[in-house]
Formats: sequence, structure tokens, C-alpha cells
Amino acid sequence: MRIDIISIFPEYFAPLDVSLIGKARERGILDISLHQLRDWTHDVHRTVDDSPYGGGPGMVMKPEPWGEAIDAVTAAGAGEPRLVVPTPSGRPFTQELAMEYAAEPWLAFACGRYEGIDARVIDEYRGRMRVDEVGIGDYVLAGGEVAVLVMVEAVGRLLPGVLGNELSATDDSFAPGTMRNLLEGPVYTKPPEWRGRRVPEILLSGHHGKIARWRRDEALRRTLSNRPELAAGLDDESLDKRDREVLSERGADA
Ligand code: ADE
Repeated sequence: MRIDIISIFPEYFAPLDVSLIGKARERGILDISLHQLRDWTHDVHRTVDDSPYGGGPGMVMKPEPWGEAIDAVTAAGAGEPRLVVPTPSGRPFTQELAMEYAAEPWLAFACGRYEGIDARVIDEYRGRMRVDEVGIGDYVLAGGEVAVLVMVEAVGRLLPGVLGNELSATDDSFAPGTMRNLLEGPVYTKPPEWRGRRVPEILLSGHHGKIARWRRDEALRRTLSNRPELAAGLDDESLDKRDREVLSERGADA
């Protein structure tokens, strides 16, 4: 997969050299290029922002450098990328969207700072390619860079050959299938007893069916406790009798 990232702080992306994503890049699974937006300015101050029309606090990113940058980056490839613009006003980034992005051959990320990018930039490229404004949560960051780190990591780990164990992603929280709309429950490793605390005996039993059932019980309990709105949205079709019992233990009407 090819990924282009345009930002006024390319140095923010140093973590993409490390660990899982760093290795995926070394192995050629991920081809990530960073671009300095200011390289497409033409004044001595390399200006990328200006005051907002209509007044108000803060500054807005000027359209001209963004237009030149996106034109240049997208011209250097076959076809068009899917353009992702991180913003707290965007559609929510979810595991489902991460999976959709993992199936794309080419993503381009445009990191805004300040109050955002002049809206005409998005309108311009919507006519040419798929453009998504995407938010990673209901809070405001200082810019899109950290949001892009989050998205690249979530997408990158889904690419074939990136995770050591191909099955690791299938039982993630939120993964489609049995973990759809469920949080993963607790996990344990050796030793079997630590500071007087035993690992749940069922996990040492070797009984795969019972272990799977216990894990599902724990996933349901954790979802109910930490994300009651997710638990309330679990559709009846996907719940069996035992699921309903576990959900009703804590007073949910499943
Ligand atoms: N830029 C600033 N805050 C953001 C958020 N929550 N998600 C995506 N981009 C952002």
C-alpha cells in the first residue's frame, strides 16, 4: 500500500519508523512518503495560513499551497488516491473504516493545523477523487498529525503480512464476526499465580469450547460496563441464550 502524508510537521511522523509499521515499511508492505506543505509556498515566510473570512479566532490554512501539494503528490502515481483529511468535524474513524482503508492501494492524508483548511480545497478534490473528512474521537487535537498516526497504525496492522499472527486481528475488539460491537475481555499469561492472584482456572483447562464461551462472557461483561451504549446496540440476532443471561446479570434488558 502506498501512503502519502502532507503536513507542516513531517517530523511528527518519526514513530512510523518504529515497531510493526517500521518493519512493514522495511519489508516493502507499506510505502510511506512524507511531504512538507511549505515546499509549495512561494513567499519568503513560506506562509500557509491567513485570518478567517467572516472573522473569528485563529487562522485558516490557505488553499493555494494545499492545491499545489495535492496536485503534485497525486500526479506522481497511477490513478487517484483516496484522500483523507483528519478533522474533529469528520465522520468517525472506526475499525470498519480502517478495514475499508486497508483494502485501498493508495491513501493520501492532508494534515490541517489551526482552525482547518479552506473548505474549497475539499470541494475541489471531491470532484476528482474520493475524499473523506475523518475524526478520531470527540476531542480536539492541535492538528491532524496525531490523528494520521492513529489511522496509519490501525490500517497498517491489518495489511497482510504485518501482524505476526494473521489471526490476531480477527479477535480484536470491534472486529467483524463474533467480536462485532464487542470489547475484548481480559487476557493473562504466565505465571499462573502472581501476588496471590490466580489466572481464571478455565483458561488452564485446555477445554477450547469452554474457554471460547468464557471469553465471550467476559467480552459481554466488559462491553456492558465500559460501553453501555454499544451493549444496548447489540442486535438480538447475534445473541444466544447464554449471551442474554450474561447481559441480564448486570441488569441490562437483553
Ligand atoms: N484534528 C484535531 N482534532 C482531531 C480529531 N479529533 N480527529 C481528527 N483530526 C483532528
